[in-house]
Amino acid sequence: MPPSRSDAIVFFGATGDLAYKQIFPALMGLVRDENLSVPIVGIAKTGWTLEQLRARAEASLRAHGSYDAASFAKFVSLLRYVNGDYNDPRTFAELRRQIPDARRPLHYMAIPPALFATVATGLASADLIADARLVIEKPFGHNRASAAALNQTLLKFFPEEALFRIDHYLGKEPVQNITYTRFANAMFEPIWNRTHIASIQITMAEAFGVQDRGRFYDATGALRDVVQNHMLQVLANLLMDPPTGEEHEATRDQKAEVLKALRPLDKSGIVRGQYRGYRDVDGVAPNSTTETFVAVKLFVESWRWAGVPIYIRAGKELPLTAAEILVAFRAPPRDTFAEGQLTSHGHLRVRLSPDVGISLGLRVKQPGEGMVGRDVEMTLSQQPGSQMPPYQRLLGDAMRGASDLFGRQDIVDAQWRAFDAVLGDPVLGDAVPCHVYEPGSWGPGEVNALIGEDGPWRNPQAAPS
Ligand code: BG6
Repeated sequence: MPPSRSDAIVFFGATGDLAYKQIFPALMGLVRDENLSVPIVGIAKTGWTLEQLRARAEASLRAHGSYDAASFAKFVSLLRYVNGDYNDPRTFAELRRQIPDARRPLHYMAIPPALFATVATGLASADLIADARLVIEKPFGHNRASAAALNQTLLKFFPEEALFRIDHYLGKEPVQNITYTRFANAMFEPIWNRTHIASIQITMAEAFGVQDRGRFYDATGALRDVVQNHMLQVLANLLMDPPTGEEHEATRDQKAEVLKALRPLDKSGIVRGQYRGYRDVDGVAPNSTTETFVAVKLFVESWRWAGVPIYIRAGKELPLTAAEILVAFRAPPRDTFAEGQLTSHGHLRVRLSPDVGISLGLRVKQPGEGMVGRDVEMTLSQQPGSQMPPYQRLLGDAMRGASDLFGRQDIVDAQWRAFDAVLGDPVLGDAVPCHVYEPGSWGPGEVNALIGEDGPWRNPQAAPS
């Protein structure tokens, strides 16, 4: 029997930034596209009224979603607000009064992890956790040990199957398209291994800085912010074996296998950078050594992938905003046309954002007398990146109890395990030097030594206009 749908949504941190940028648009999308009609309760301790929350929701939809009067009217009819301190049992008693009939509420904690236990205790005191689901936001800890401790705390209140750890990258259409394309076409399987693939590059470039998130970012850094979570999920989708059988955990089991096989990174496999000007950002320490750029060289120690270097880089203030994967194929066994050492022997490029596409890089003969070649790229599919927003997809899934696109504790643990040896506490600190790079560049020059003969780095191009 499929799990039953949640019959109320409660979101903590209702007046915060995440609610404004992501949660209101996602909820509104569910109301509009999936006819969501359960009570939606926002909770915060900012002293607001329901009227203020409605106004905030409207502003959010106008800025970050799509506002239409009819859907908004329905959304507003479902919206409630509870104001109160998370330490005060009266807050939760009031919540219970707002959703007297809810049997399977979905609680969404868009609040700092330090408050999770307090809120869970409050929910338990008002009899709001039996059969409930809990959605939590990253960061899931700041290293392997703290992630395990956080998990222990959550498991005191909720069983694993009721926990939905959001990594919004998993809700992205192009990330799902990686596994779809691989497993819906038999041609990839024979070449998807160490025999045919020379190296892999994954790049997540952002042309903007840390904006108004200086305090959060300075305690986090690029490795924790986007590589340990988003980029490793991309890697898992790219390298996992096909899921087998009907078991509903089949997909996550295969991802876990890949991530558990990651060789733990040591200092020789990482380059860190900080863009010039970062230390002047509000909330950033004047002598900060937090990285805003990171490049790592990873290996998956499995029969299929042993020896294939996987380079991941991510950074702020780079020349453009784009995320893509480049899978480089091995050279043919003989240089038939005596062309000497070439930098490319064909590739598959998977573009994740801002546009979405798959392209095949090949070498073809130049027209003319000689057997001389040139590199061409054939685009197999391309579309603008306008799909269902990840948060809408993920919240809808969580309400249905569908957990495929959420983190699982062993997966989260494997993700931390890969980087634990290079992570200081709470940020990388001086364990690995942090090189200054110029805004608008592709990070510090040291990244070229990291990639060495597997290079050069293939920089994403701007989206076609
Ligand atoms: C977030 C990070 O998780 O992902 C941000 O905290 C980053 O620093 C963002 O900018 C990127 O996600 P998207 O979907 O905007 O590419």
